[in-house]
Amino acid sequence: MRRKIIAGNWKMNKTPSEGVNLINELKPLVKDADVEVVVCPTFVCLPAVVEATRGTNIKVGAQNIHWADNGAFTGEISGEMLKEVGVEYVIIGHSERRRYFAETDATINSRLKAALKYGLKPIVCVGELLIERENELTNSVLKRQTTLALKDISSEDMNNIVIAYEPVWAIGTGRTASVEDANDACKFIRSVIASLYNEEIAQNVRIQYGGSVKPSNANELFNTSDIDGGLIGGASLTASDFVGIVKY
Ligand code: PGA
Repeated sequence: MRRKIIAGNWKMNKTPSEGVNLINELKPLVKDADVEVVVCPTFVCLPAVVEATRGTNIKVGAQNIHWADNGAFTGEISGEMLKEVGVEYVIIGHSERRRYFAETDATINSRLKAALKYGLKPIVCVGELLIERENELTNSVLKRQTTLALKDISSEDMNNIVIAYEPVWAIGTGRTASVEDANDACKFIRSVIASLYNEEIAQNVRIQYGGSVKPSNANELFNTSDIDGGLIGGASLTASDFVGIVKY
């Protein structure tokens, strides 16, 4: 039985004090949640948010990680730094990173290996553009992104990896994939993982849906065969919306 995981991707929002305020609001509201609850603030918020979540059921993730242990990589953050701050999860390959910061399938694979090396749990994002969906390329894009992201990743490491299916056209647009399309895509990604590894690993890997998830659509999205929770952007920025999704 896969435990659902609901992660808030705060993107470039919230100062450290605003982040702590949100955690303080969330704490009592999510303490009995059945699902795994994760928040992913910006790097500068991480120490304060890790501190604010101590002793609670809220876990903390970063929004990116560099592949090198250290060195001349201005503006980047290493796995060792994240680990020391107390981060547990890390988002890798978000479509905004692919689109605005030239992330490729190869850099995503390198970042994923760094996360695993430092014992961080990766949330690896995949998803098609609108034009790709319209041209019926969704499955081939998902297959390519999933296969290349997971290149040379062991079966054992697959136990710690979460995949997030995020159709790019549904992110921040208010347009959600239909429940059927979202579930079909997650099921397809699972079949790709089965072909790369085996059926047991595929059945155990958690696959989230992301893209305009709200309290009003979370229930139908998460009550499907293959969607194991969500990666939530806009609706993770206010306690009431995020809690509404966590308690779908
Ligand atoms: P959204 O973002 O919920 O604001 O659409 C989701 C994401 O980018 O992870």
